[in-house]
This record gives sequence, structure tokens and C-alpha cells, in this order.
Amino acid sequence: MFSFTLPEISLATTIDKNPGILVAGLAETSDGDILVGLPDAVAAAASKTFGGDLIAMVKQLGGSTKNAKAVLLPLPGADKLVVVGLGPIDVSAEQVRRAVGAAVRLISGLPAAAPHKVTISLETAEPSLIKGAAEGALLASYRYGPTKADKPGIGELRLVGAGKKPEAKQALDLAVATATAVVQVRDWVNTPANLLYPETFAEAARALAKTYKLGVEVWDEKALEKEGFGGLTAVGAGSARKPRLVKLSYAPRGARFHLALVGKGITFDSGGLDLKTAEGMYTMKCDMAGAASVLAAVAGIAQLGLRIKVTAWAAMAENMPSGTAGRPSDILTMFNGMTVENYNTDAEGRLVLADALAKCSGESPDLVIDVATLTGACMVALGVNTAGLMARDDETADLVLDAAEAAGESFWQLPIPEDVAPKLESAVADTRSGGDRFGGALTAAAFLSKFVPEEIPWAHLDIAGPAFNDAAAHDYVPTGGTGMSVRTLMALAHARAN
Ligand code: BES
Ligand code: MN
Ligand code: ZN
Repeated sequence: MFSFTLPEISLATTIDKNPGILVAGLAETSDGDILVGLPDAVAAAASKTFGGDLIAMVKQLGGSTKNAKAVLLPLPGADKLVVVGLGPIDVSAEQVRRAVGAAVRLISGLPAAAPHKVTISLETAEPSLIKGAAEGALLASYRYGPTKADKPGIGELRLVGAGKKPEAKQALDLAVATATAVVQVRDWVNTPANLLYPETFAEAARALAKTYKLGVEVWDEKALEKEGFGGLTAVGAGSARKPRLVKLSYAPRGARFHLALVGKGITFDSGGLDLKTAEGMYTMKCDMAGAASVLAAVAGIAQLGLRIKVTAWAAMAENMPSGTAGRPSDILTMFNGMTVENYNTDAEGRLVLADALAKCSGESPDLVIDVATLTGACMVALGVNTAGLMARDDETADLVLDAAEAAGESFWQLPIPEDVAPKLESAVADTRSGGDRFGGALTAAAFLSKFVPEEIPWAHLDIAGPAFNDAAAHDYVPTGGTGMSVRTLMALAHARAN
């Protein structure tokens, strides 16, 4: 297993004698395009080399003001300059995150003898922009796999021009805790399923709990069966790798709000007897991204010492076909006593979540949020960059949408219409686990809803699209696990803490 360590990051008021590679911005204003954050001395040296008009040179090299378009300019001497488009000058935190991310990702791929030192010239004291820049830089430094000798990646990051206010340091601390949680999710998601399976995933969660001084409880397959977790038991039945339920708790003194986070932790989703195609199965090591997100988020919240009680529940199983596997049409008895007719063994996520949702509801939390790579239908509806959000009331939906907005993650609310109820009717059990192929994300949400009592506010995040990037890396988003949803969960905890 590979694990990524974030580079050092610090704030500085002036640019060092040895800045390494310098990052500056190119923005659009009503008076034309301007370079942001380029020190006079560097500008002078560059103009000399490139014959005057630096902006024209940047554009000739393919650069533009377009957000997150980055180009490299060789400067006289050893140092280099990266100019990245910011878009219009009144940038959002997410624009800064993307722009800085694109610049740092470009640098991270440059050959060198030693890890790169990067100086990012900011010229803003606005905490949300400092946080965005720091997160963009840290997240773009990420890589999974062995380090190549000739491409050593990022060694050190410096943010210059953020002022000296304590708010700047606070923004940096928030960014570091958030990025730490995000890269933890990426590492877990990228680890293949022969190495990360319920038992080893639960052990990794235990290790995380130890590092962040969290409470930890693990149910093994015997405990799950004995205590009536029929969903987890059925989904895990086909695999030699037995299921687990993990609970991590963070309960600081004086906390007034209890947030319960529930994650889908299918370490590999072959589909079970309703087997997926080779193509559909290839990326299914990502199917535990929800569980990874809730575990990493509670650790990040603890790292920040936020005054809010958070309990994370990770429902872990491997969905495999075999002589001991569950079958389509099996009737399962779930943790809350409800019986479920399993209409398709590839709809396994909702079964493990249902058990965990019912279990966590027993603690009467103030809010339950589940996170899951749940349906291909959600990807069809919203694409690969936007996650679905479903809730039973708009107040809860807005809470999540506001946190997502603050965190710079893209969520879109989908309904849970009344008229999906008949699809879940069963002649042989209390409910069926799904319906037809239309509106699959909504039907799944309607099913999950049955396992959280009506009086407990609940939101469901379907991250099937954005959790895993099987295309090329862009901005601060690498190929593979992305860690999407962690930033929103941490921002929500921040908003709800007292
Ligand atoms: N893990 C998949 C959903 C998924 C698909 C996640 C693609 C990420 C990328 C889930 O368990 C699944 O198989 N869902 C089925 C549900 C169907 C059987 C109702 C689907 O979406 O096809
Ligand atoms: Mn499935
Ligand atoms: Zn799945």
C-alpha cells in the first residue's frame, strides 16, 4: 500500500532569495489583463528575457486568463515561473483552488534532481482565498504509487503575500486538516481490493482512531450476524473477505450538536451474482469511497478540535459471486427488523447502508448524512463532476448545499418523489430494494429513507460520479480517487460546531 505525505506548507511575507518555482496569476479586469503576484524584480528580469511584453509572451506560450490554464516560462538563471489564468479578477475560492492546483500539478510533473520548492504569490488577506490556494496546492501535490527518481514531485510550498493576521494562519490550518483528510480518502480508494478489504480497512480505521484519539468499535462477521445486521451479512456472504461495521466517535466536551455520518464501504463491487461487465467492474475498488470519506472527515474534524460530536459509521463488505453468495429475490431481515426482497445483488450499497443507518439512528443524532457511490443513474443524471443530494426536507438540503458551496464542491439536489413508493412494494417482504431503471438514484434514496426515523433530519449524498476520476488529471483533481465530499462534510461540521 502506498501512502502519500503532504508537502510542508507555510506562509511568508516576502519572497525568498531561492523561491524555487514561482507561481503568479493572470486575471481579467475591465481595464484589460493583468499579472497578479509578480514581484517587480522578476517582472523586470522576465521582460528583459522575453523582450518587453510579458503578458504577450505568456499568451504566445499558450497561456490565457482562462481559469486554471497554466504555462511554464523559463527565467534567466535556475528559477522558473508558472503563470496561471485566474479568470475575472473578483475570484472565488474555488477559482483560486483550481488555478493554484493547475500550476502546482504542472510543476509536480517537471523533471528535477530534488523535490520542487514552489512559491505561490497571493496578494490577498482574505481567509477563504488563502484556504482555497493552500488546498489547491496541497491537493495537486498528491500522487499514488512509487516516486519516480527523475520526477520527485513537490517538496515544499510557500504562500507569499497573505498578510500577517491570525486569520491567515487559521485558514492555513483549516486547509492542512482538510487536505490531510482528502488525501487519506484518495489513498484508501486507490488501494486495490486485494490489499484493502473489510478486515484491513477496519484495521486502517483503528489506526486512524489511534492517531486522532477517537473512540473506535468494530463489529466482525459473527457480531454482525448475531446482532441482526442482515444487509451487511447478506452482501458479504459471497466473499472470503468477511464484512465489518466500524464506528469512530469524536465527542469533545461542551459539544451541543451530534452529527452522524454513514458511509458505503464496498471494498470491491463485482455485482455479485448479478455480475457486472468487465468494463463496469474495472473501477469498482472505488466503491468504498463513502466509508473512506466519513472516516477521514471525523479525523479531520478532530484534528481541528471543532466543538461538535461526530460519529462515523463505515459499512464494509466485498460484493462477490460464489456458492455462498446472496441471490436475487432473497428475503433479508435488516437491523431494524424490516424484511427486504433483494431485487438485484448489484444493488448492494443500499443494503449495507440500511443496516448502518438504522443502527446509528438508535443514538438519536441531530442530523444523519450518508455518503455513497450508490447509483450509475446518478452519474447519468448529473455527470462525473456533480454529486447528487437528496433529503426529506429543504432545511436539511440547504444545510448541505451551503456547506458544499463554502467548500467548493459541486452538489445538486434531486427529489425523493412520493410516486416512487409503489416501485418499492413487495408481495413477500416489507419492501423491495429497488424498482425499474428510471430515476434509479431517487428510488435508492426512497429505500434508504425507510431506515431513518422520520423525526431525524437526514441527507443522502450519491457520489458515484465524482468519487473516482477515470479520465486525465485536471486542476487539483488526480486520476483515481478524488476524496470528493470530505470538504463538504468538514465545512458542515464547522458550520454546526459551537
Ligand atoms: N457501485 C455501484 C454504483 C456505481 C456505478 C458507482 C458506477 C460508481 C460508478 C452500485 O452498487 C451499483 O451497482 N448500482 C447499480 C444499481 C442497479 C442494480 C439498481 C447501478 O447503478 O447500475
Ligand atoms: Mn453494485
Ligand atoms: Zn456498489
